Amino acid sequence: MKVRIIDESDMDGFIAVMEHAFGFELKDENRQHFIDEFELDRLLAAFDGDQLVGTGGAFTFDLTTPGGVVGCGGTTVIAVMPTHRRRGVLTEMMRFHLDEVAERGEPVAALWASEAPIYGRFGYGVATRYFRTKLNRNRVSFSRTPLGDGSVRILGAEGARGVLPELYERIRPERPGFLTRGEARWNEVHFHDPPEWRDGGTPKRFALYEEDGEALGYVTYRQHEKWDAGLPANRVAAGPMHALTPAAEEALWRYLVGIDLVATIESWNTDPNSVLPGTVADSRRIEQTISDGMWVRILDVPAALAARRYQIEGRLVLDVSDPFRGSAAGRFALEGGPEGSTCEPVSDQPDIRLDVRELGSTYLAGFSFSELGRAGLVEGTPEALRTADLMFGWHLQPWCPEVF
Ligand SMILES: CC(C)(COP(=O)(O)OP(=O)(O)OC[C@H]1O[C@@H](n2cnc3c(N)ncnc32)[C@H](O)[C@@H]1OP(=O)(O)O)[C@@H](O)C(=O)NCCC(=O)NCCS
Repeated sequence: MKVRIIDESDMDGFIAVMEHAFGFELKDENRQHFIDEFELDRLLAAFDGDQLVGTGGAFTFDLTTPGGVVGCGGTTVIAVMPTHRRRGVLTEMMRFHLDEVAERGEPVAALWASEAPIYGRFGYGVATRYFRTKLNRNRVSFSRTPLGDGSVRILGAEGARGVLPELYERIRPERPGFLTRGEARWNEVHFHDPPEWRDGGTPKRFALYEEDGEALGYVTYRQHEKWDAGLPANRVAAGPMHALTPAAEEALWRYLVGIDLVATIESWNTDPNSVLPGTVADSRRIEQTISDGMWVRILDVPAALAARRYQIEGRLVLDVSDPFRGSAAGRFALEGGPEGSTCEPVSDQPDIRLDVRELGSTYLAGFSFSELGRAGLVEGTPEALRTADLMFGWHLQPWCPEVF
């Protein structure tokens, strides 16, 4: 088995493995769009002799941390040919991929998992969560006057191109879990909208919320038309809401709930910080299930921990294990606070012992040390865990609206 970065001539085999592993067929007219989404010099493949049997790769991202930003290799397109599964192909690709991310000087890697049991063994921990939300339109109403006095307008794809990237860039620096969205992602993921991605629905609609002409939030959605015994039963399938202010988010929910002929509104990636439960008359009418979102793999502990701020001043010695790769293992003194932080190797007695996987889970403040401690995943005295919770905590839950 050999793993290497691919070249153009490998692309047919690369796409074939993904089609077989994920179970889709890439139409000829979408082939170039698919290729353009990726960074070719970061795509890798595993070969059994001459046959390409495994795929993987990375995106070059900046990841917003609590109070800072960190370089991040976005693990992506992981697939192994069904004929070659469970022979260690993925394991070999992960070694190559994490080396490649580390060599580029990115202190962390991150991914969205197709299945939750796959990536813990490679040192990734669940770092963000999201809600799947379902609203029955007839049962949801808002309890107060709107938080804002702006209005919503619909943009075409061209209009959206001129507004959304700039708005996203205003939201991103304040939101732990957000990632840079390069032009290729905007074009090939957010604005490219082939019929086979529509699941029988309309083309993507872009709803923009503005106050005094200033763009403050947007949501994309599709409408699925349905009549049920003469009664309207349309469904709205919405993407994540991107809002600079609570008023913007609330206005976008009000807009979706207000569309006539709609029976249900589904939003598959709702921000855990959403204002929705607080602004509706009856929060029990919001059906929500929670899911793991983005997973984080810390590769360089001092660089990663120094790339965020901490809620209170404090000092902690962390003893980190890293059975898969070893590079994150060691004992590190973290001194941090609201103004910044330093982290360096030491030989002092540790306050907390944990695996790199759990460090990934606590990194963006999505999980507390105490809750992981209660589950037997982190070791430390109750005082040490509490200090770590106070330091690593943040006023916003991390959330990632970008699936890659
Ligand atoms: C997931 C996938 C890439 C795994 O590839 P693979 O080459 O079979 O994985 P490996 O043989 O290296 O497995 C390494 C370990 O992970 C485990 N593992 C692999 N896939 C798993 C899964 N889906 N669920 C649970 N465990 C899994 C293996 O059992 C093995 O465990 P062990 O070390 O205790 O023996 C492959 O099954 C696949 O292509 N699936 C469909 C596409 C997909 O889901 N890709 C991931 C996108 S995020």
